[in-house]
Amino acid sequence: MKPRPVGDLSSTRPPSKTAAMDVVATNAQVRASVAAARSRGLTIALIPTMGALHAGHISLIDAARDAFRVVSIYVNPTQFGPTEDFARYPRTIDADCAVCRQAGADLVFAPADSEIYPPGEQTRVRPGPLADTLCGPFRPGHFEGVCTVVAKLFNIVQPDVAYFGQKDAQQALIIRRMVIDLAMPLCIEICPIVREPDGLAMSSRNAFLTPEDRARAICLYRALWVARDMLTAGGSNPGRITAAMRAVIAEHADIKVDYLSIVDAANLRPMESLAGKILIAGAIRVGKTRLIDNMILELPR
Ligand code: PAF
Repeated sequence: MKPRPVGDLSSTRPPSKTAAMDVVATNAQVRASVAAARSRGLTIALIPTMGALHAGHISLIDAARDAFRVVSIYVNPTQFGPTEDFARYPRTIDADCAVCRQAGADLVFAPADSEIYPPGEQTRVRPGPLADTLCGPFRPGHFEGVCTVVAKLFNIVQPDVAYFGQKDAQQALIIRRMVIDLAMPLCIEICPIVREPDGLAMSSRNAFLTPEDRARAICLYRALWVARDMLTAGGSNPGRITAAMRAVIAEHADIKVDYLSIVDAANLRPMESLAGKILIAGAIRVGKTRLIDNMILELPR
């Protein structure tokens, strides 16, 4: 008689995944691979990225380990403003494919512009008021570009689940809203921020920092901790707390603050009384590099 695991009544073997990772560039190729995986009973997970992959992205690939994992790598022009860093954004496709392979991804989708923005294209997905706060006023059109490309990626890949990082807290919330509002048939998973040993949030833009800027960039994380300490000690005045955060950043005369805010984590609105789930978020400019970071705190009601 064949041995049978004790207490396991299921005789169904889980579908096995492909051993080799493919890299494809067209919508037709990605659809064919996804259809083949789905026909083998696999769940399809999408990890949308702009490349320059780091440990934060790897944590997203890892979180999707039970699914057929599609990593898209596309530096989306429509989410960059005219004075932003689109041209110098790191493009490291060979290294990124090696990272994906090592992390166990099944498919890399690295489309050409014409796959995402076909000739004559003119349609955009415009988010609502969630996009008007925090990063919104400093990056006009950014979240429209994000929603547009993410909606297209969802339509092309047709995943069951898509993974995003909590570092882009506002983006995550806006995408969740878009999925509900446009009745998109997938789940959104938000994964925790991955940090360097000193606490700096992992970001593709960290590569732009000079050693001096890198050392100073940690002040944003320190400012978040100052807010967190004040809040957990019972601080209830958002203005006083953000002033204390500003004082931390002001130790570095040449670092510019875009915003430091304490908002309701569910809707990004300012809070009358600080209770429940709150988001402490900030964006600073260190040299030419814009960095964002945040913490979520659950305060007693
Ligand atoms: O978070 C990012 O890297 C990008 O905004 C995304 C979601 C891949 C869309 O281009």
